[in-house]
Amino acid sequence: MKEPAAPSEGVAGPAVKAPALELDGVSASYGPYRALFGVSFTVGAGEAVALLGSNGAGKSTVARVVSGLLAVTDGRMTLDGVDRTNQPPYRLARAGVAHVVEGRGVFGRLTVEENLTLAFHQRAGRGGVAACREQAYEAFPVLAGRRHQKGATLSGGEQRMLSLAKVLVAPPRLLVADELSLGLAPAIIDVVYENLRRIHAEGVALLIVEQHVDHVVGLAARAVVLEHGSVAFEGPASAAVAAVESLLAARGELG
Ligand SMILES: Nc1ncnc2c1ncn2[C@@H]1O[C@H](COP(=O)(O)OP(=O)(O)OP(=O)(O)O)[C@@H](O)[C@H]1O
Ligand SMILES: [Mg+2]
Repeated sequence: MKEPAAPSEGVAGPAVKAPALELDGVSASYGPYRALFGVSFTVGAGEAVALLGSNGAGKSTVARVVSGLLAVTDGRMTLDGVDRTNQPPYRLARAGVAHVVEGRGVFGRLTVEENLTLAFHQRAGRGGVAACREQAYEAFPVLAGRRHQKGATLSGGEQRMLSLAKVLVAPPRLLVADELSLGLAPAIIDVVYENLRRIHAEGVALLIVEQHVDHVVGLAARAVVLEHGSVAFEGPASAAVAAVESLLAARGELG
C-alpha cells in the first residue's frame, strides 16, 4: 500500500487523513420531487457531526444518499478520499458505512438472537458471531433478557436498541444514525448516546441526524443545519442552537 500524502504546511487540525465523508454539491430527488439542492459538507476522519433541521428539511435524504439507498442526481460523494458517487449500498457498506435508519430496522418475525446472528454473520464470520452477540448483550442488557422474543413484540425503545446493537458491536468507519432518540425514554437515550460515545472514542466517524440539538451537543463538536434541502448553517454545534432557533423564528414557528 502507498503511504498517504503528507499534509501541506499550515493545514489546521488532523489533516493527515482524508475526510470520512465529503458531499460536494449533492442534489437528489424522489421522482420529480427534488429534495436536496447542492448540499456540501464534510465529516472528518473519526469526527462526529450533527445533522440538524426541521421536519422535511432533507436530513434522512442525506442519510439515504450516504448509504446508497438514494442516487444523487448531481454532485459528488467521497468516502476516505475515494469517489463513491452512486455506488450501490453493498459497496458502500463494504467501504465501511453503516446506516441506522429512521424507525425500527428490525426483523419482526425473527427473535432478538436471530436478528443479531444475521447482522454479525456477514461482518464477523461464523466464528465471530457468538462473541459479537455477547458484546451486544453486554452493551444492552435488556436485550439479553429478551433474546428469545420476536422482534415485533419488543417495545419501540427495545427495537431501537436492537438495531443499534447490530451496528455498534462490529463498528463501521462511518456511522450514519437517523433520529436515534426519537420516541425513546430519557434513560434509554442515555444508553444509546453512551454507546455512540464509546465507538466514537474508538475512532468511528459519526453523522448524527437529530431534531433535538441538545442530545448531540455533548458528542458532536460540529453541526450542519439543513433547511429546504440546502445547508443553512455549518459550524460549532454550540452555535447551531441559535442558528436553528433563528431559522424557526424566521419561519414563524417559534414564540
Ligand atoms: N420516498 C419519498 N418520496 C417522495 N418524497 C419524499 C420521500 N421521502 C422524503 N420525501 C420528501 O423529501 C423531503 C425531505 O424529506 P426527509 O425525509 O429527508 O426529511 P427529514 O429532514 O428527514 O424530516 P424528518 O425530521 O421529518 O424526518 C420532504 O419534503 C419529504 O416529504
Ligand atoms: Mg427524517
